[in-house]
Amino acid sequence: MKNTQIYAHRGSKGTHPENTMIAFKEALRVGADGIEFDVHLSSDGELVIIHDETLDRTTTLSGYVKDFSAEELKSADAGSKFSEEFHGEKIPFLGEIFEWAKEHTLWMNIELKTDKLPYEGIEKKVVGLIRQHHMENRVILSSFNHQSIENVKTLAPELERALLFEGLPANVEEILAEKKEAGFHPDKNSLTPSIHATARKLGYKVRPWVANKPEDIERLVTWGVDVIMTDFPEKAITTLKGMSAK
Ligand code: G3P
Ligand code: CA
Repeated sequence: MKNTQIYAHRGSKGTHPENTMIAFKEALRVGADGIEFDVHLSSDGELVIIHDETLDRTTTLSGYVKDFSAEELKSADAGSKFSEEFHGEKIPFLGEIFEWAKEHTLWMNIELKTDKLPYEGIEKKVVGLIRQHHMENRVILSSFNHQSIENVKTLAPELERALLFEGLPANVEEILAEKKEAGFHPDKNSLTPSIHATARKLGYKVRPWVANKPEDIERLVTWGVDVIMTDFPEKAITTLKGMSAK
């Protein structure tokens, strides 16, 4: 029996509008272990859950998230660009996700989207809200911007943190040994059995992203990764169950 868990990437992005409450609720419904989502800052400093720096691809508004107030962002439709079936779905805010989290036990992987825009002070705001809602034992903070992870470490050493990578630098093992964080989140195509083994030896939890095909999921489970992030949590759970039955 493998112990790999399933986290729903941007909610359940394959079947629902990404980073919306309905996508997160779908992850809960199908029995995922966690959800992954992305956070940015509005012009008035609210923590906004959306993937891109701009609103155009996934919502009915146009422009940078950072240039809109929370009130303005609330007028956006974040569902209909995925499908008319989801018309009226809103852009969520982090506090809303934490309010809903009181009803379940899903893990929450919060990705700080500070790799393109700096969003000064975002780490402090996220840490503050985590503490206010007592979510300390259910969150993992990750970022491609490893300075952001350092900032979280300074502000809240008790919180679980993870290093995100898209492609792996030649010295990745050195970086992992030096940083001594809890989580290693590589893209699934860059992870090798050898790097996986080294990361685990260093004490890391390994959570590759994003695996949707059964053959990719089976390969990663066989290696023994801790979590698989997927756009299709229901299908991934079926794949996992199929493996256990063999
Ligand atoms: O956290 C893993 C994954 O979400 C990173 O890529 O572009 O989907 O935010 P992206
Ligand atoms: Ca993400």
